[in-house]
Amino acid sequence: MQEMFTVFIQLLFIFQGVTSLRDVKLLVEPTTVVRGGTAALICSRDMQGAPLYSVKWYRGNHEFYRFTPMETPSTRVFGLPGIYVDMNRSNGSQVLLRRMDLGLAGNFSCEVTAESPSFATQIATKFIDVIALPTSIPVLSADKDRYQPGEILRANCTSPPARPSANLTIFVNEEPVRASETSLHPSESGLLTTKVNIDIKVTPALFPGGRLRVACYATMYNVYNKSAKLDFLTPETDPRPERITLNGGASRTFLSWLPLFLLFFLPLVSGQDFGFEEFGYYSYDDESEKNLILSLV
Ligand SMILES: *[C@@H]1O[C@H](CO)[C@@H](O)[C@H](O)[C@H]1NC(C)=O
Ligand SMILES: *[C@@H]1O[C@H](CO)[C@@H](O)[C@H](O)[C@H]1NC(C)=O
Ligand SMILES: *[C@@H]1O[C@H](CO)[C@@H](O)[C@H](O)[C@H]1NC(C)=O
Ligand SMILES: *[C@@H]1O[C@H](CO)[C@@H](O)[C@H](O)[C@H]1NC(C)=O
Ligand SMILES: *[C@@H]1O[C@H](CO)[C@@H](O)[C@H](O)[C@H]1NC(C)=O
Repeated sequence: MQEMFTVFIQLLFIFQGVTSLRDVKLLVEPTTVVRGGTAALICSRDMQGAPLYSVKWYRGNHEFYRFTPMETPSTRVFGLPGIYVDMNRSNGSQVLLRRMDLGLAGNFSCEVTAESPSFATQIATKFIDVIALPTSIPVLSADKDRYQPGEILRANCTSPPARPSANLTIFVNEEPVRASETSLHPSESGLLTTKVNIDIKVTPALFPGGRLRVACYATMYNVYNKSAKLDFLTPETDPRPERITLNGGASRTFLSWLPLFLLFFLPLVSGQDFGFEEFGYYSYDDESEKNLILSLV
């Protein structure tokens, strides 16, 4: 007797499963909304032929919108602070939320009720995140304008307030560099400023093609990606001679035989590294050509 009853219950359960409401799903587009933006919430279901009684929409436990086809009007909005339902684009299947602010991030649900059998109800929930992007690109700075091999290049990068905090990565010549320090600083209205520091030892190998590039990328999921770059040119000779201005007239012809002069004399200058061997030929600007000549003469 007991067994027969169990089988009966199971059959009833399976039977109900076939004829009743099923597969209530909530699709959110996008799931990460930039503050001030819009999200579409689409509630799909398989009614199995049963008439729809109602669709209720919730944020957390609070109902903010209801669709009841048998009633007039068929839609109702329950004023909830910060929720702006676009009535023109909301119906029994979807709700469009506009002007979403940070505080609205949370779980959203749609609850579907079928008229038969006996008001079967299913609910589906999705988390919607609302984020604030940094208001400007990251700021990258280094402690010097030029670096000699052996020196330490110290740089830091700061990304303006965001929520959640932006991810910062510093690259040296396309290679990510491990941050020596990463910090978050809270600012007004719960946003966070991100800052990273790096320090790397400068080597000649860091100047392929005569240039060392430091870049800082600020990213937030796949929604935001901005960068700042600093370029450092091949290290200069050291110490740099003081600037001496030549009288304009003679200098042109003087400079025209300069390369020959350099080729001939440079090997003779002992104990000075002009950067030719280590870094390949470095093209001096006019001013430093003059300076070089004057320091040789
Ligand atoms: C809805 O549509 C009406 C008429 O088409 C329009 O006047 C109103 O501004 C629209 N409301 C929104 C929130 O788009
Ligand atoms: C609900 O509105 C959306 C967009 O406004 C539309 O694509 C969809 O067909 C509508 N669905 C129903 C059941 O009216
Ligand atoms: C959203 O729902 C998930 C799963 O039920 C829960 O773990 C989480 O705490 C909820 N988040 C919020 C903000 O209520
Ligand atoms: C960032 O680096 C610059 C240049 O070295 C320096 O002036 C500044 O103080 C640094 N900022 C912080 C917060 O460390
Ligand atoms: C930052 O990076 C971590 C690790 O890759 C990732 O889990 C997180 O979602 C990222 N945060 C943002 C805001 O992009």
